[in-house]
Parts: sequence; C-alpha cells; structure tokens
Amino acid sequence: MTPTPTEGTTASRTLLAFYSRPGENYYYGGRKDLQVGNTEVLARMISELIDCDEHRIEAADPYPASYDATVRRNVEEQDADARPAIANPLASIELYDVVLLGSPIWNVRAPMIMSTFTDSCDFTGKSVHPFVTYAVSGLGSTVRDYATSCPGARIGEGLPVRGEEVPQHRADVESPAARSRTPHRMRKPATRRALREKEQHG
Ligand SMILES: Cc1cc2nc3c(=O)[nH]c(=O)nc-3n(C[C@H](O)[C@H](O)[C@H](O)COP(=O)(O)O)c2cc1C
Repeated sequence: MTPTPTEGTTASRTLLAFYSRPGENYYYGGRKDLQVGNTEVLARMISELIDCDEHRIEAADPYPASYDATVRRNVEEQDADARPAIANPLASIELYDVVLLGSPIWNVRAPMIMSTFTDSCDFTGKSVHPFVTYAVSGLGSTVRDYATSCPGARIGEGLPVRGEEVPQHRADVESPAARSRTPHRMRKPATRRALREKEQHG
C-alpha cells in the first residue's frame, strides 16, 4: 500500500508513521486499561499541528492486551532480534523527505516492529524524527537505533513524552521548544500564520 498525499497539501512531504498498543499498560507504578494507546493520542496531536500523511503500523500478530504477556513477548523478540510482521506494510516512503517515527518505549528501545518498518524502507536522504511515549526511559536508545536502522537518513531531535501525561501534554507539544523541532514547512498553514503573528506581535 502506498499512502496518497493528503488533498491540498502538495507541499507536504512528511510521513508520520507510528505503532501504539491499546490495552493494559503501565500507569504511575500500577496498571490501566487504555482504550487508545498513549502514542496514538500523541500522534493525533502532532498530526493536528503539521501537514503530514499518517500511517498506523499494525502488527500482523497483534500484541496481547495483557501488559505482562506483552513484556514477555517483547523480551523474546528483542533477544532474537526478531522482525514481527506488519499487517499493513507501505510499499515505499519515496514520496516523503521527512519521516516522524512514533512508538512506545519497550525495554528501553522501540518495539521490534519498528525495526521491521525501518528495514522495509529506504531512508536515504530523509530526515527522521523519533517521537516516543514512555514511563521512565525517555527516548531510550531510539536515536541511536534509528541511526543504525535508517542508513543514509539524518536523525533529527526526538520528542519524548511521558505516557501517563500525554493527555495533559498538548501545550508542550505546541510549545515553542517542541515546534522548533518541527521543520517550518511541516506545519499546517493556520499554525504557520498563528506563529508568524505571535513572532510579530509577541
Ligand atoms: C512491553 C512493555 C515494555 C515497556 N518497557 C518500558 C521501558 O523500558 N521504559 C519505559 O520508560 N517504559 C516502558 N513501558 C511503558 C510504555 O513505554 C508506556 O506506557 C507507553 O506510553 C505506552 O505507549 P502505547 O500506549 O502507545 O503503547 C513499557 C510498556 C510495555 C507494554
């Protein structure tokens, strides 16, 4: 499947690709059942702010709703350097020059399905910006890992957001610091206009 650029955004060459798992998850030391995964909530916030095409990476063999069972499967996959199959692979990312890669942090790195995704695409000449949700590990090893798994790409600054705080995080995603990580031309025209006015009028 090849994504079609969003209508009216011919200048947009940004792909936001993310994996997120709903179900039982870590929540301030306990557990909470999430109807929508934290990373998906963050991905939607970002795609409201910038011109991009969105691709939600789905596992061909979905991860369990149980937190502990997912932890076990992930450890096995990491130990085996596995490439879990993607149900909806993209034929190519050739249309894009910027790729935002979103995922939770699992055992201090991105889930192995993100490696399946990066292995399947040619990142030569692209800018890659990781964004993650996490409990304690921040970006973990994602910046280093994507530098290896996306040969030829420029790895830009990443955006880590604590999973439990994603819903309250809209202001931070929209903050100047977060915006400065987002190349200017990726922003939606309305956002660009608002920013210009803010810059002019303080
Ligand atoms: C299998 C598994 C492993 C995890 N390992 C870590 C970890 O090493 N470090 C961390 O900060 N958070 C870890 N977490 C917490 C998630 O990164 C965090 O809850 C994230 O927001 C979940 O995003 P999602 O709802 O989009 O899947 C782990 C969660 C799961 C399910």
